[in-house]
Amino acid sequence: MICFMNELFSEDDGKGMDGALVSLRGISRFYEGGSIHALEGIDLDIADGDFIAVTGPSGSGKSTLLSIIGGLELPTSGTMLVDREPLSSGRIDTYRQKFIGFVFQAFYLIPTLTALENVQLPMFGVVRSRKQRADKALALLDTVGLSHRRHHLPQNMSGGERQRVAIARSLANDPSLILADEPTGNLDSASSTAVLDTLERINSSNRTAIVLVTHEASIAQHAHKIVKMKDGKLQ
Ligand SMILES: Nc1ncnc2c1ncn2[C@@H]1O[C@H](COP(=O)(O)OP(=O)(O)OP(=O)(O)O)[C@@H](O)[C@H]1O
Ligand SMILES: [Mg+2]
Repeated sequence: MICFMNELFSEDDGKGMDGALVSLRGISRFYEGGSIHALEGIDLDIADGDFIAVTGPSGSGKSTLLSIIGGLELPTSGTMLVDREPLSSGRIDTYRQKFIGFVFQAFYLIPTLTALENVQLPMFGVVRSRKQRADKALALLDTVGLSHRRHHLPQNMSGGERQRVAIARSLANDPSLILADEPTGNLDSASSTAVLDTLERINSSNRTAIVLVTHEASIAQHAHKIVKMKDGKLQ
């Protein structure tokens, strides 16, 4: 077990809210020997179909929170439960690969791969057949309205199109939860709207839960629930 299991910090039965996909209890993340408190005592439940916006000033801990929910980073203390079970070190790779889809402000597409190839990347090791990978990637590009751009390299697509390819890639292994860190931060307002529409559609049609970090109140309004962070704490 990794340090997600620290029962001392549990405030309920230690199993999280009924129906929660992911529950955080008393999660803290300190850096530099404890002098920086990026997160302090975070309690949060994320349920199937949730669309949660996380807002707050720069440095308030939003990205750190997303990294911990996504299993990219370990907390200093606290408990994280996935499907009401503590996330063990043995499960964390599968959790990251199959349970979570990531979308970042900077897209992080591979520049030498086409849209279709980028979307297939997370499927290697999960979907065996080359044809199944290609068919699924094409269907996902269709979901985000970009099947006609399937052979384009990222450099030959607009920012909004690149982000929609990144969203299609995040769906490659049918995640239960999408974590999006400022997904519209590099986009103009028309492209932001297209990206938000895409996320909303995925949330309502697949019931995929979404946690979206944003600085902008107008973007947070698209979520069903808004949580505010300040100095590493949920307000
Ligand atoms: N690897 C690290 N080492 C030391 N300090 C860090 C590290 N990562 C984050 N921090 C600090 O933790 C705090 C929270 O950072 P975080 O990136 O989570 O903020 P944020 O809310 O996402 O900010 P922004 O809106 O600017 O992206 C900040 O004070 C930051 O400087
Ligand atoms: Mg950030």
